[in-house]
Amino acid sequence: MKKIIIAIDGYSSCGKSTLARQLANQLNYHYVDTGAMYRAVTLYLFQNQIDVHHPEMVSEALPQIDISFGFDEATQTQITLLNGENIENEIRINPRVASAVSDVSSISEVRRFLVKQQQTLGQNKGIVMDGRDIGTVVFPQAELKLFITAEPKIRAQRRLDELQEKGQNTTFEEVLANLEKRDHLDTTRADSPLLKAEDAIEIDNSYLSREEQLNQVLQLVNGLQMGGN
Ligand code: DC
Repeated sequence: MKKIIIAIDGYSSCGKSTLARQLANQLNYHYVDTGAMYRAVTLYLFQNQIDVHHPEMVSEALPQIDISFGFDEATQTQITLLNGENIENEIRINPRVASAVSDVSSISEVRRFLVKQQQTLGQNKGIVMDGRDIGTVVFPQAELKLFITAEPKIRAQRRLDELQEKGQNTTFEEVLANLEKRDHLDTTRADSPLLKAEDAIEIDNSYLSREEQLNQVLQLVNGLQMGGN
């Protein structure tokens, strides 16, 4: 069967990575979480006291940053590595990372640095990649582009549940405010703003179960994998 590239874009916390992971498992494809890459860069900058508001200093640091993905046998999940160290948990729960990552991801040098790596990861196809600019910038030629949305309050509740599961003490209002701020920054930044590609299929999953959403997308993928070329 023909291997394809599946590009998934959408707002923060609307279940893109859950869908991407499910698809990669079902199809035996690689999964690349590009948000984790932007979060890893942000964490590196904090760890090395580099001011995220100084793009020149950030650019100088980039060659020292090596991001890779591994597999944790204990939790049976994919993990993100920064210079060989497992930072998966840290990039998800550290509130400083959540609040600075939009600033870091608006720096063009950071985007160029990561987009190049993302394109290399997808060159053999058989990949599911999620982010904000995958269908528009990273893989404009992707065979399947999805644009995922959900109502902000529903997204905030999902994110709150996730954080509480990880032992983080926060409130619905705080989570919603962070999410709305990130939506605003992600859609208004000058370089590669979050945008629905013209040929992307939009899915609002506010009232869809994970299984319903997965089945809808698998039908689309099956059609494409059977197709010519
Ligand atoms: O998907 P996420 O919430 O983990 O992404 C973290 C941040 O990274 C988000 O605020 C926007 C940014 N991002 C981006 O600009 N481009 C991508 N391809 C992925 C994420």
